[in-house]
Amino acid sequence: MSMDIAVDGLVFTYPSGVTALGGITVSVPAGQRLAIVGQNGAGKTTLVRHFNGIFQPTEGTVRIGDWDTKGRDIAELAARVGYVFQNPDEQLFARSIRDEVGFGPKNLGVPADEIEARVTAALARSGLVGMEDTHPYHLSLSERKRVALASVLAMETPIVVLDEPTTGQDARGVALIGEVVAELAAEGRTVVAITHDMDFCAENFDRVLVMADGRVIADGTPAEAFSRLDALEDAHVEPPQLERLRTELGWAEPVMSVDEFVGQLKTRA
Ligand SMILES: Nc1ncnc2c1ncn2[C@@H]1O[C@H](COP(=O)(O)OP(=O)(O)OP(=O)(O)O)[C@@H](O)[C@H]1O
Ligand SMILES: [Mg+2]
Repeated sequence: MSMDIAVDGLVFTYPSGVTALGGITVSVPAGQRLAIVGQNGAGKTTLVRHFNGIFQPTEGTVRIGDWDTKGRDIAELAARVGYVFQNPDEQLFARSIRDEVGFGPKNLGVPADEIEARVTAALARSGLVGMEDTHPYHLSLSERKRVALASVLAMETPIVVLDEPTTGQDARGVALIGEVVAELAAEGRTVVAITHDMDFCAENFDRVLVMADGRVIADGTPAEAFSRLDALEDAHVEPPQLERLRTELGWAEPVMSVDEFVGQLKTRA
């Protein structure tokens, strides 16, 4: 079964009365790498928290594969959607990294020897080789964020949601997360990532949703989305650095990566 995400007419109002999502309709096919960008408070986190059932729609529907999230609880949806929190301290709770990263697979009923293998593999992918016995408390924020990532990778869900994965990561950490995104997509899994890092977004995703005030105001490939200067302005987002540079140079074709930039430069040499 194909694990598409289908959001239809989604409205969400917090108990406080704030309507954070004003009617969102979007489909994400399985295997896509989707980035969500937009100003603080645009509704990005509120949107993705509907995918794993933390929130239920006030109006509209959210479907994960053949399931309507309405009537499914977080534990059920956890088998389909892994969600890495923006703030790892909302997610982490165990006293060792092994327990933390092994918790999800254990809950899914994975046998003990396979849990061990999954923990090792997830830590390797997250740049935390051999840290099984470390207490998360002794880690930096960037490391705790990668433990949160590892604990979701170990669940091997068809859909992985990353809420601002590169925040606080150094260049190596950012590159590592880009590799994880590429590997997941190569395995046919869907990656939805919220990010404020437009360079990371341009280089690592197939599609970009631009959000402002609880709505999607642009949707397309990175080249398409980053050409929508009107929408970017409304969302308080600047195009990636290379894209701004090529605009200043007066080149017609969008540039999303260093490779593309060098390619265009060579055609002009
Ligand atoms: N627990 C809450 N109770 C009431 N309102 C909330 C709550 N969480 C978020 N909001 C409001 O909902 C709107 C959307 O917030 P959300 O956190 O989804 O935005 P975001 O795009 O993820 O922002 P950021 O980039 O700052 O993480 C904002 O107006 C915010 O103030
Ligand atoms: Mg957020």
